[in-house]
Amino acid sequence: MKLLVISGSTRKGSFNTRLAQLVAVLRPSDEVEVVSNLAELPFYDGDTEVQGWPETVSGLREAVDAADGVVIVTPEYNGAVPGVLSNAVDWLSRPAGDSVLKNKVVQVLSASPGRYGGARAAGLLREVLGRIGAIVLESGLSVDSAHLKLKDETPDPVIVPALTAALDELAFAVSREVAA
Ligand SMILES: Cc1cc2nc3c(=O)[nH]c(=O)nc-3n(C[C@H](O)[C@H](O)[C@H](O)COP(=O)(O)O)c2cc1C
Repeated sequence: MKLLVISGSTRKGSFNTRLAQLVAVLRPSDEVEVVSNLAELPFYDGDTEVQGWPETVSGLREAVDAADGVVIVTPEYNGAVPGVLSNAVDWLSRPAGDSVLKNKVVQVLSASPGRYGGARAAGLLREVLGRIGAIVLESGLSVDSAHLKLKDETPDPVIVPALTAALDELAFAVSREVAA
């Protein structure tokens, strides 16, 4: 299975990017690409769009298109999805009604040092993704106390089974879509 994992943080030492990288560790037999450079996308602008996709946007669109399943890992800023990730989703939602994410199976994860693990942002992101036609899984995973649970490359024993379950569900949903 080809998985694209998008981190909504561009911060060095990001807990969300660390969680994104764990996907590759836990799915060694899948082809996993991790993207954590969303700040390279220009701000969405309709005038830019009519001139053709900017190179960084087409790169991301092609990666989504080629993936069997997508994992989006979101930080939470002020109870919402950070602007840099929201901007990427706006680009991916175009053209209206024919998003590259349409009918794509997506698992949403989040991580935060806080007690809810970014669950509010993850919930909002699921709503947006559903609105643009993605097949969004309800399960997901929100890692609270991320500064403790994701403090180094060694995965916390609590995260491994929960993340494995979230990824197994993604794999199952992808196989169901392929069979349909
Ligand atoms: C502008 C801003 C707003 C934030 N708001 C929240 C919040 O609403 N809920 C939360 O759990 N953490 C919040 N945080 C803390 C982030 O969860 C924390 O900085 C986290 O490390 C960001 O993710 P990253 O490590 O992947 O970059 C906020 C941080 C910033 C910079």
